[in-house]
Order: sequence, then structure tokens, then C-alpha cells
Amino acid sequence: MALTVRKLAPNIGAEICDIDLQQDHDAEVIAEINRIWLDSVILLFRGQELTPERQVEVTGWFGEVGNLARPKKYRTSGHNDLPPGMMLISNVRENGKPIGNLPDGEMMFHHDMIHAREPHKATLLYAVEIPSYGGNTLFANGYTAYETLPDEIREPLEGRLAFHHYNYGTLRKGDNEGTPAFSEAEHPVFRTHDDTGRKAVYVNRLMTEGVVGMDQEEASPLLAALFDHAERSEFVYEHEWAVGDLLLWDNRCSMHARRDFPGTERRLMRRTTVIGNGPPA
Ligand code: OGA
Ligand code: MN
Repeated sequence: MALTVRKLAPNIGAEICDIDLQQDHDAEVIAEINRIWLDSVILLFRGQELTPERQVEVTGWFGEVGNLARPKKYRTSGHNDLPPGMMLISNVRENGKPIGNLPDGEMMFHHDMIHAREPHKATLLYAVEIPSYGGNTLFANGYTAYETLPDEIREPLEGRLAFHHYNYGTLRKGDNEGTPAFSEAEHPVFRTHDDTGRKAVYVNRLMTEGVVGMDQEEASPLLAALFDHAERSEFVYEHEWAVGDLLLWDNRCSMHARRDFPGTERRLMRRTTVIGNGPPA
């Protein structure tokens, strides 16, 4: 079967057209989809009718399905009836409490689970209900950000580790929306991708706190300049969701953010992940 592929933006993203993910596909097709994903960093499949169980099976095409990192105590009510490893991202409320995580509004750029020792390599997000406007998700290519980084930002950070901290639920740094549960880790500022061998920017505005062995007075302006560079619009694809969209992204070489959306409208997405390794030091 030949796949029809369409670029989403000049520097990032591909849509795989004319494929029904409810159907089984042979190993060659799955290998080809994986190749296109490694080249394009994010993949889009539109118009899919996926049950939660089928989403987990499709997630398995990309590796071993990841478990939820957030401690059980801080999981919301909507998770009780879902397959293990599936998370709801939703502002829908029952008895005044959100049934899902990351419920409301804008979210700063971040790499999923950069705060963990072994971050999950991929995330898949499937749109069940979307608001009439807003809530777009933005994806920035970390390879092109690295390759175009001015030397005065790159050189002092090359070979260094950064320190990441995340209180689960935080949408904007310091917003007090997070839970008391957190996770922390150190990883290279520029990450070498396990499969492509290419280097990508691996720090972000939401979760990165500092650079190991560097004074905060030196690190803060360097990181701020690096975030501004990495978030530049020429590295970004902005996705306007439609119900039935499945997006898959590579957390090793991209970061993502979410735009604001009306709190009076429902947004419901199902999220799964694929486990990964710690980046090579
Ligand atoms: C996530 C995430 C963005 C969105 O699920 O990790 O960042 O658009 N979601 O809801
Ligand atoms: Mn995320």
C-alpha cells in the first residue's frame, strides 16, 4: 500500500492521508509510517474513528505503551473507565471537578515528561470534542532551532545539562494550578536523538529551571534567549483541531504549547504515550 503524505508546514509535520486506523496494517506499512514520523517529527491522521482500546493498539505501532506518570492520588475521575496508560485532557466538569488533566486555557511550550529520568518518546492526542474556536496546539521543531542557533547562545550551553522541575497540572510557570506532586530530572540542553542521531534543543519555558553548574545570573538570560529562538514561528506548525484528528509527536526533538480557548465550551482529548530512554549523556 502506498501512503499519501502531505507536509503540514515548511519545517515540521506530515499528514498521512487515506488511511483508516481502525483497520489493521501490515508491518511494512507500520515501518513506513515510523520512517515518515522520524523525518517529520509530528504526524497527523484526520477523520479517525478510534475507540480508546484501538488508540492504545495504534500507540503500540510506535513502541511500548507508557503508563501514567502522575501519582494515582492526583488522577481525575475520568480515568477510572479508561484503558491503563490513557489520560484524558479535558475541561469537562462533573460535580464541579474536571474529569481530565490540563483542563483550562493556554499552556506554555514544553516537552512531555522532560522532568522524568526516562521521558516518554512519543505522545498521541486524539480529539473527541473541541471548542468552536481556540485551543490550537503548536509544535516547534527542535532540530531546526538547534541548527540555526546563534553561537553566542549555543556555545556556553553546549555539553551542559539542564535541570527540569514540574508540578503536575501546571500550565504556565508559577501559576499555582499544579498539584503538590512533582518530578525533577537533569538532561542535556541539546539532546542527541536516539534514532536519527541529530541534535535538538531540549529545554523549555514551562519546565526548565536552570543549567547545572552555571550561576542563575548567567543561565537565566541564556535560557530566555534560547526559548525565544526555539519558539520562533518559522519552526512551528499550529494545529487547528477537528474531531477525529489523531496527532503523534516526538518529544525528543520537538516541544508543544496550547492556545487559550473559551472556558464555557467543552474540549475533550484522549492521550497515550510511548516509553523512551533517558537521553545519552
Ligand atoms: C499534552 C498537551 C496540549 C493540548 O497532552 O501533553 O500538552 O492541546 N496537550 O491539550
Ligand atoms: Mn504536553
